[in-house]
Amino acid sequence: MTTSLNELETQLVALKEEATKAIAPADTLEQLEQLRVSYLGKKGQLSQVLRGMGKLSPEDRPRIGALANEVKEALQEKLEQKRQDLQKAQIEAQLAAETLDVTMPGVYHPQGRIHPVNSIIDRALDIFVGLGYTVATGTEMETDYYNFEALNFLPDHPARDMQDTMYLPDGNLLRTHTSTVQIHYMEENDPPIRIVAPGRCYRRDTVDATHAAVFHQIELLAVDEGLTFTDLKGTLKEFVQAMFGEELPIRFRASYFPFTEPSAEVDVQWKGEWLEVLGCGMVDPNVIKSVGYDPEVYTGFAAGLGVERFAMKMYEIDDIRRLYSSDLRFLRQF
Ligand code: DAH
Repeated sequence: MTTSLNELETQLVALKEEATKAIAPADTLEQLEQLRVSYLGKKGQLSQVLRGMGKLSPEDRPRIGALANEVKEALQEKLEQKRQDLQKAQIEAQLAAETLDVTMPGVYHPQGRIHPVNSIIDRALDIFVGLGYTVATGTEMETDYYNFEALNFLPDHPARDMQDTMYLPDGNLLRTHTSTVQIHYMEENDPPIRIVAPGRCYRRDTVDATHAAVFHQIELLAVDEGLTFTDLKGTLKEFVQAMFGEELPIRFRASYFPFTEPSAEVDVQWKGEWLEVLGCGMVDPNVIKSVGYDPEVYTGFAAGLGVERFAMKMYEIDDIRRLYSSDLRFLRQF
């Protein structure tokens, strides 16, 4: 009996040693689980050793039982410790792999800008929409009728000359101003009318620092019963103030346009300088008549603004050609 007791004790101590040695180098959680099953599992080595307990005398059993428990607990503790170590290492490895390297060069996302021409158009439209105007558009290709005749240009008016207008081979032309939209809109709508019409225009101008063959205008038209020059003045004053962000001295200079009578040019005093900002006037009764309205009932006012000129003044651009050079160093400034 004593030999058997000693044998079991030796086996248990050997088992503990062996298991301890096996657990130490385990480097995955799966390996660790395999070790647990093989030493402490139901059919594991500890159970096998304990099977020998049956041969022991009842007095010896508690001693072996106590030793077996001690071995079991010691191994469980080692397994648990190892499990924690492995888990910690696993998390650390994962964190290291997922770490952001903040010193890496960033990815460049080119950012667009609003072109100065569009920015002026957007601002002007916002202001007029705020005053109750509707945005209207027309086409860039036009007939002589909409560009000239309906706007009261006499047949021999110099602006019709080939020098100024780009004619197309089919006899149509590229509109020289946005005043064309006045006629189209009035033909299709009844008064009262309040529209603002931005758009591209074309002229056979020699291109230089202040002239472009392709440019933009914003047209304004109001037609109603009883509109007077005072309404025009008030509207334009409001516009200029909103556009420049402050109340500026403003003056109306008598001028001439075929489609307005009287006509004026508007100057604004800005940074100590008088700037000509737009042309305007009361819609000529001939224009009112040409769209079939009764000039005895309806009066109107109109205005036209050169967008590029405005942009050049407001953003202090010295050469109109820069606006179309597609030079990003220039465009990124706005
Ligand atoms: N159409 C004119 C031009 O191109 C600008 C203009 C002047 C428009 C007076 C108007 C206006 O509506 O009333 O030079």
